[in-house]
Amino acid sequence: MSQKPTLNSRKLQIQSLSILSVLALFITIGYFFLREPNEPLSKTTVANVLPESIITQIQHAQYAELYDVTDTADNATTPYTLRYVLTGASLPDALIEDYIKELKKQYVNDAEASVQNNLTVQTTVIPYQQSFYSFVLHKRVLQQNVQVASEMKYFFYDAAEQKLVTFKQLLAHDEAHLQTIATLLRTTIAQAPQYASLQQVAFMAPNYVPRWSDFEQFTLSDEALTFTFATNSTPALLDVPLPIKAVNDLLAPAYQLPLPKMANVVDATYVLDETKKRVALTFDDGPHATVTPQVLDTLRKYDAKATFYVLGNKVQVHPELAQRIVSEGHEIGNHTWTHPNLVRLSDEEILNEYNRTTEAIIEATGYTPSTFRPPYGSTNDRVESLLPLPSVMWSIDTLDWKHRNANTTVYKASTMLHNNAIILMHDIHQPTADALDHVLANLQAAGFECVTVSELNMYVQ
Ligand code: NI
Repeated sequence: MSQKPTLNSRKLQIQSLSILSVLALFITIGYFFLREPNEPLSKTTVANVLPESIITQIQHAQYAELYDVTDTADNATTPYTLRYVLTGASLPDALIEDYIKELKKQYVNDAEASVQNNLTVQTTVIPYQQSFYSFVLHKRVLQQNVQVASEMKYFFYDAAEQKLVTFKQLLAHDEAHLQTIATLLRTTIAQAPQYASLQQVAFMAPNYVPRWSDFEQFTLSDEALTFTFATNSTPALLDVPLPIKAVNDLLAPAYQLPLPKMANVVDATYVLDETKKRVALTFDDGPHATVTPQVLDTLRKYDAKATFYVLGNKVQVHPELAQRIVSEGHEIGNHTWTHPNLVRLSDEEILNEYNRTTEAIIEATGYTPSTFRPPYGSTNDRVESLLPLPSVMWSIDTLDWKHRNANTTVYKASTMLHNNAIILMHDIHQPTADALDHVLANLQAAGFECVTVSELNMYVQ
């Protein structure tokens, strides 16, 4: 009696074990037959689940309201090192973390079992004013140390409001401002040789209609609103900066820099009117102690805007005139320091001529010039590739420096007149100042509006 139950229970145990095994087998077989057809089988050899990771979070070294996050996994086949930033605010952080999570998932799914994979994310933080930050996340995927994928992701964070801001919000959903930004970008790209590889992209097509989604890759700093565009060649991405002073008025008020209202690169209130006829008057080689003030007085009389291509050494002598040019709504452009023939200079000398002049203009006016005119119109590919600003030439030469005759200047400026003309004059010769009243009266009578070079560029593409 005492042994029988023992035997019986052992038998029972054996029976239930075999039943369990058979059940397990059926479940396993059933799984293979019933599993979703798109569920990958082979990838199970790679860590198809996310590897163990170590996450550290410390206060950002430079910006106290941000956190530096390092997320690393050190396993054999799918290691990664992700450096990004968090804000301490729940909604922005959820969006950033979602992006990181998706990156990791995609990386592990795409990883090849037979090779050494690697994923890195590096993050650049660009501050704007006191409490705005652009986060640029650069993702790179390597296989056997060869880059197989690369991607940039942009976030713009408003720390005061603790929210992420889209480009559409940055421009207060204003379609007209989007149009202006697109025009400024297209003009910039069309004129600068360093953007040659962008001229073939869809963005530059003549019938292009701007869409908000084309401008999501942006950063904002105290100097520039910069967009990144993909090219069809190397480098695969190009940054195109627009000076903050050219776009400040296009931003929603919450994001504007409190700039003095004097820079007239492009007047944001300026209405694009294709039906109007326009010319850009340009005055070179000044400012001059007596001629420039007379030119400015006459321009004011006709409410006409002009562009002054100044020499740095003269700005240094007459900073108050440079200041007056800008404060009266005219554009000021760089025309070098000593007026040399640039193609005969070394790279270093060219840059010196250019940089000294830009610095003198900023020093005198607080305004950074956005166009450049090479002395004598003399330039070549080397000069153009060295200098960051487009060279502005002219379509009508009054030859005022040669004949020094007011009547001839009036005649030249009036008889060759055409729409979108850029007229070359010099505010260092008295007869030119004397001719200006008559020139402007003629332009007005002929229905032309006098605009700055940068405003004219908005039309001419
Ligand atoms: Ni000149």
